Order: sequence, then structure tokens, then C-alpha cells
Amino acid sequence: MGRQKVHALDGVNLDIAPGSFTVIMGPSGSGKSTLLYLLGGLDRATSGQIWVNGKELEGLDENDLGIYRRKSVGFIFQSFNLIASMSALQNVIFPMRFAGIPRGERHKRAVRLLNQVGLGKRALHKPTELSGGQQQRVAVARALVNNPALILADEPTGNLDTTSSFAIMKILKELNEDGRTIVVVSHDARMRQFASHMVYILDGKIVSEAEYEEASSFEIPEDDTEE
Ligand SMILES: Nc1ncnc2c1ncn2[C@@H]1O[C@H](COP(=O)(O)OP(=O)(O)OP(=O)(O)O)[C@@H](O)[C@H]1O
Ligand SMILES: [Mg+2]
Repeated sequence: MGRQKVHALDGVNLDIAPGSFTVIMGPSGSGKSTLLYLLGGLDRATSGQIWVNGKELEGLDENDLGIYRRKSVGFIFQSFNLIASMSALQNVIFPMRFAGIPRGERHKRAVRLLNQVGLGKRALHKPTELSGGQQQRVAVARALVNNPALILADEPTGNLDTTSSFAIMKILKELNEDGRTIVVVSHDARMRQFASHMVYILDGKIVSEAEYEEASSFEIPEDDTEE
């Protein structure tokens, strides 16, 4: 940024096992989204290497990186990122257009996925006619269309109430039990119960749980204005 150098990530060394459910926790600005964007091939690192399934992402050209994003990764954004003018069904069908899936199959697959996330009855509704939790379930269905082995979710429950959050996490858990690798970014401590692995990040660096706990505990100043 201008003359100021920002190290969004710094010296990160991380293994994510196939079939694991990793939760990355850290405060705002610690580099969580940056890390997830790098893993998903949405951003490129200035240095270092990222190996996914025997391939080094930095070594892929834009075309191959596009194929990686489309075929291997399902990305769930914090703010849903649904297309407002399209129904839930059309939103889910949309990424299949670019993946060479025959027209008839696209529709069938989208209906099946919307049923899977419990939204079969809302398929023809537009995003504005859906609650936040329902919109996020559409986004989850959309992330699954090309049957990705890796699902990356950036604060998938950040904008949701407790019940909707739990529903989304349950869906992710089921996908994990199906054999998919899940990486979820969150600053919600309740996510721990779903994780097979926890990663803590502070100021772009991976830290231990103890260091993380120490940094996040702060003393509440005594209120001496009370009578
Ligand atoms: N395009 C950019 N240019 C400059 N700095 C950036 C850019 N994107 C992010 N940063 C900085 O990099 C750091 C990490 O940002 P990042 O978005 O990864 O944080 P985060 O952990 O996802 O935060 P949040 O929980 O608020 O989403 C922050 O200090 C941020 O200000
Ligand atoms: Mg973020």
C-alpha cells in the first residue's frame, strides 16, 4: 500500500491432510482471507510455494489455474456473492456452464444440490427473497456443483444467526464425512467442535493455541464511574 509494506502472511508453513476438517482462527486483519485466497488459486503469493495434490500452484499458468479453481475447489465467500438477478437454481447452474456439463445434467444436478442443503422448495426464489442462512446454503450448493475435493469457506457463518450457522456447519461436516477436505476460516470459537485440526494465526504468522489464547485474553478495565 503506497510506501507502506504490508505482510499479510509471513513465513507460513502449513500442511493440510486430505480428508481433514481444518479451522483457521484469527482476529480481523490477521491474514485468514489472504491464506484462503492463496489456497484457492484466487491470489498469488509473492514468494513461497503451495502444493495441492502433487501440483505447485505457482507453476500453473492462468489457464491451468482457472481449471484448478473450477474443478478442484469449491469456494464459499463470507458475503455469499450470489448473482442478484438470478434465482437460487440459476445461481447454482451458472458455474456448470463453464465446466462442459451437458444442459440437461446441469438442471438435474442443481436441483439435487439444492435439495441436499434443504432448499428444494426455494429453488425459484431470488437472493433478496431469501434469508441470510438460505442464501448461504445456495452458495454452499453452488460451491459443490463441480464436485470439488477441496472446499474453502471464508467465514461462512459470519453473517448468520446461531441456528443458521449450525445448519451450515452441519452441511460442511457431512461433506467432510463424504471424504472432502474442508478448510474453514472463522473467529467463532464454537467452530472448534467441528474441526479435526485447528490453525491459529496472528499478524500473518501461524502460532500455537497457547500463544493465541494469551493474545486474545485482555483485561476489562475497572469501571470507576459507577456510583
Ligand atoms: N489488497 C491489499 N492491499 C494491501 N493490504 C491488504 C490487501 N488485502 C489485505 N491487506 C492487508 O493484509 C492483512 C490481512 O488481510 P486479510 O483480509 O487476509 O485478513 P483477515 O484475517 O481475513 O481479516 P477479517 O477477519 O477482517 O476478514 C490486513 O492487514 C489487511 O489490511
Ligand atoms: Mg477475511
